[in-house]
Amino acid sequence: MSDDIKKGLMGVIVDETSISKVMPEINSLTYRGYAAQDLCANCNFEEVAYLILNKELPNKKQLLKFVKQERNERKLSKTLLNVIKEMPKKSHPMDVARTAVSVMGLEDKETTDNSPDANLRKTMRIFAKTPVALAAFYRLRKGKKIISPKKNLSFAENFFYMCFGKVPQKDIVKAFDVSLILYAEHSFNVSTFTARTITSSLSDIHGAITGAIASLKGPLHGGANEEVMHMMNKIKRPENALKWINNALENKSVVMGFGHRVYKSGDSRVPTMREYFGKVAKIKKDKKFEKIYDIVEKVMIDRKNIHPNVDYPTGPTYHLMGFDTDFFTPIFVISRIIGWSAHIIEQHATNKLIRPLAAYNGSHYRKVSQIKDR
Ligand code: CMC
Repeated sequence: MSDDIKKGLMGVIVDETSISKVMPEINSLTYRGYAAQDLCANCNFEEVAYLILNKELPNKKQLLKFVKQERNERKLSKTLLNVIKEMPKKSHPMDVARTAVSVMGLEDKETTDNSPDANLRKTMRIFAKTPVALAAFYRLRKGKKIISPKKNLSFAENFFYMCFGKVPQKDIVKAFDVSLILYAEHSFNVSTFTARTITSSLSDIHGAITGAIASLKGPLHGGANEEVMHMMNKIKRPENALKWINNALENKSVVMGFGHRVYKSGDSRVPTMREYFGKVAKIKKDKKFEKIYDIVEKVMIDRKNIHPNVDYPTGPTYHLMGFDTDFFTPIFVISRIIGWSAHIIEQHATNKLIRPLAAYNGSHYRKVSQIKDR
């Protein structure tokens, strides 16, 4: 293959963005200039969502307005609720999220308006309704009654409440909130690039987010947090971890939750999420997954110099919180809707159709023969 071909667009800078900056050389990630770990320590998810969408941290009044808007948009239409009720119970919740956003696009009065204000209003609707749609499916497939959202609960509390019927202790909610902050935005990753590519033809935000969800589902991207849990369940006990990971490396397997296209010496989000994983494990009095985590991580770094990415600690954290494994990537979705939307708005503001070239390596020129002669 010619050196001119940048397979996977590796190392290619395709555009500018003012939303987030990934700095692998100093292991840092900033949203609108603020370090993600600083935001985790000092803000809740709603404040960070506001920041990503509106470029500045909110003051009290702005935050109240934003929170109110989100809470007022949580209700699902009858049509969407019926669609969710009719979905096969075995559907992957990522497909449920994708379909739900697509249905929202059919219903939204502003679907074809790509102005920044309309896109912000649509973002709030998608942001508010997607967790409600997912939680409804979470309950329905277990044969349980749907729990309606509550306006006096925060975004994170409300998600727990709609899935489990109760809000856990505040340290668990904080750990979940931190995971949402860390998942909210990460520059030109594959799902965001998908959203920007769809937007570049001047298509709409519902279509772009629908495509982004499909992209996030894959195990090389967001789907990795589910795969991490499958791996941990296969390992089962800390005593098995060393043998398991050594075998995996002998067999040249891809170990989920490790490696990154941009970070080569560690994902800046991991230390923060690792800390909260530890807090949740302590509250739940279950150290098994932490022990497995540490053993696998050590071997991956010692033998391969490959470091964990953010999906490695989020997987077992969500498990300890009580979520079904196939809901881990949908949790990523309810947060990343914010990053995707900011990128969609930015793409519209500075749009150029995304249309790369390919080097052709198929058949030489040939003439069509008649069907009787083939
Ligand atoms: N397990 C084993 N070997 C790995 C891994 C891994 N997780 N990641 C990279 N490598 C090896 C890979 O085999 C290759 O070795 P060699 O040069 O001998 O062929 C080398 O490291 C370079 O890897 P690559 O796949 O060419 O690098 P990439 O930039 O194309 O891939 C990646 C990045 C994330 C797709 C890859 O690291 C991977 O498949 N990781 C597992 C899936 C995963 O955890 N994805 C989450 C990504 S970050 C958070 C998110 O987006 O959700």
